Amino acid sequence: TKIPEVEEILKKMTLEEKIGQLNLVTPGGGVATGSVVSEGVETKIKEGNVGGVFGVSSPEKVRQAQELAVKESRLGIPLLIGSDVIHGYKTTFPIPLGLSSSWDMDLIKETAQIAAKEATADGINWNFSPMVDIARDPRWGRIAEGAGEDPYLGSQVARAMVEGYQGNDFTKPATMLATVKHLALYGASESGRDYNSVDMSKLKMFNEYLPPYKAAVDAGVASAMTSFNDIHGVPASGNKWLLTDLLRERWGFEGFVVSDYTSVNEMIAHGLGDLQDVSALAINAGLDMDMVGEGFLTTLKKSVDEGKVSEEQITRAARRILEAKHKLGLLDDPYLYSDDSRPQKDILSEENKAVARKAARRSFVLLKKHENTLPLAKDAKIALVGALGNNKNNMLGTWAPTGNPQLSTPILEGMKNVAPNAKITYAKGANISNDTAFAKKINVFGPRIEISDESPEELLKEAMETTRDADVIVAVVGEASEMSGESANRTNLSIPDSQKKMIRELVKTGKPVVLVLMSGRPLVISEEMDLPVSILQVWHPGIEAGNAVADVLFGDYNPSGKLTATWPRNVGQIPIYYRMKTTGRPSASPDEFQKFKSNYLDVGNSPLLPFGYGLSYTEFEYGETTLSADSMNENGSITVTTTISNTGDYDGEEVVQLYIHDKVRSITPPMKELKAFKKIMLKKGESKEVTFQLTAEELKFYNADLEYVLEPGEFEVFVAGSSDHEFTNTFSVTE
Ligand code: IFM
Repeated sequence: TKIPEVEEILKKMTLEEKIGQLNLVTPGGGVATGSVVSEGVETKIKEGNVGGVFGVSSPEKVRQAQELAVKESRLGIPLLIGSDVIHGYKTTFPIPLGLSSSWDMDLIKETAQIAAKEATADGINWNFSPMVDIARDPRWGRIAEGAGEDPYLGSQVARAMVEGYQGNDFTKPATMLATVKHLALYGASESGRDYNSVDMSKLKMFNEYLPPYKAAVDAGVASAMTSFNDIHGVPASGNKWLLTDLLRERWGFEGFVVSDYTSVNEMIAHGLGDLQDVSALAINAGLDMDMVGEGFLTTLKKSVDEGKVSEEQITRAARRILEAKHKLGLLDDPYLYSDDSRPQKDILSEENKAVARKAARRSFVLLKKHENTLPLAKDAKIALVGALGNNKNNMLGTWAPTGNPQLSTPILEGMKNVAPNAKITYAKGANISNDTAFAKKINVFGPRIEISDESPEELLKEAMETTRDADVIVAVVGEASEMSGESANRTNLSIPDSQKKMIRELVKTGKPVVLVLMSGRPLVISEEMDLPVSILQVWHPGIEAGNAVADVLFGDYNPSGKLTATWPRNVGQIPIYYRMKTTGRPSASPDEFQKFKSNYLDVGNSPLLPFGYGLSYTEFEYGETTLSADSMNENGSITVTTTISNTGDYDGEEVVQLYIHDKVRSITPPMKELKAFKKIMLKKGESKEVTFQLTAEELKFYNADLEYVLEPGEFEVFVAGSSDHEFTNTFSVTE
């Protein structure tokens, strides 16, 4: 249904003014991730040549921008004000891969609500988030920005974030438009190299990679951003199958589609023609707004004159942009997001920071427990070592351009806050990397890797001295924040050598060692897992980093995170993920080599750490799983019940996961599929019964004709604390 107010405006618009609405510009105030920023932004706004701006914030600056549009352009249409608010605005939450490891959808939604509250207080009404790209290749730096490898979990996270940003009433000033990105398959770029080509069967797309985008659309996401990669030979920004047949016709998407940064222009480099050709291709494919590249602005009129693009196509795109402005209430009040009193109240409040601390500690994953080193006593003598142990520059993680690293709490400070009676001595011990050329690549947004004037030997010597009187050593090691993220791909996924060497020396002291591991991706830590150490994975924890890490180290919070992406034994195993298919020649067991079976000569098939894995200070025991029936029809359901007991020494939370296996189907099934999960709290000694309702919906998949179907037959199921488990029960689905 058309909106009368929008139609009235459209009637008054010239072709040029409609094209102007399709132009998204940035004066370069945010992070410019391409080689150009927009020129002459003010003049363009006044001339009606701009539909939206990003990289502008604060009520005052946004008011000035809106005044230019409202008072000085002929039709006075207000602007969309965009921003990348990826994991918090000023209150920075853990990186999204970390947040997803909490498996706590209410928490994820709450972080999105807070991000929206803060960003809108600063004038922003349109967020370039959530990023829901499934990623199964940890070489790809942007794995940090998503929810990992699984379509089911990824869909839950996508929905929670859209609901958090958008709320249920757009005109409420603390809500904003969300953008599902990057449509589509961006996380599947070949060889983990950002922006690279993607070639994938439609079956794999529909069953494995598209569900989270669809979940965002089903949740009512207001806009979608295209990806940089090609799909079936056509880059996403010019791909009619993707933007029209799938997104609009099949999924019923009614919002608007924006390109990624200059991705329309980049179709020239992809080999699809000149700027006029690729711009016409994009608008005809169904792209509505052109980010920064101005191919639309400079060529669409000519293409209409030459009959290559219809005016109707342009009107349709302009209508979608105006509808978004109407949705936000901007057509009635362009200054809705320019309330000077809001930043002070809404941004960086103690309440928001408390959620950041909660979110961070819930995102941590205990990868290894050695003896009873953890939790630490609050009066212990602790040697804290590692460049990341007393550091503000790396706590926020990638894609946090609106956050201020200097406001983050370093680990040392957090440990002193939480355990004022502990005797903590700190030494750097090692540079994050000793490689100056590498450090230069990482330091584009600030000094993430600082190489000391002291030699590596001197640094290490100082660290060893601090350990002398210590009861326990805590080494904070891993990646600097910009070692993951956009255009931050790696082929070596180990902890950098400088730090690895330090770890080995620390272990030689014979004292208990805890590794606090920071990274934006799964790392290869096979050697470290074999050492007598405990390992706590903390990602890049955000503004409350130090306090949250200390909460967990000293036992005020018992770690409850579980991995949402598989950790490989070595880089050669990549891609490795739990939803793999079986082959016609599976080995008898994953790690046993058998000739002429599907395996490697030099490493087993199992990962180092599986999807869904994570330990706790306490122990959980799973009782027998029972089913309410051994068969169901397509309208029925089966209740799956398991009792979980906390048999250890601490209260704790467990993520109880349910996986199925469709034993026979018309297309080869994955070996395992996550279909449900619940995060539960169990007091020490307590047991709880957990039930899941399995319906036909959970058992459906896309068949070879891309129909979403339930096929009768036998299914297996198990309930466990990780994907690494044998199936325990079977049931069948009857016609
Ligand atoms: O939103 C981002 C996108 O994820 C990567 N390219 C730039 C966009 C706008 O900053």
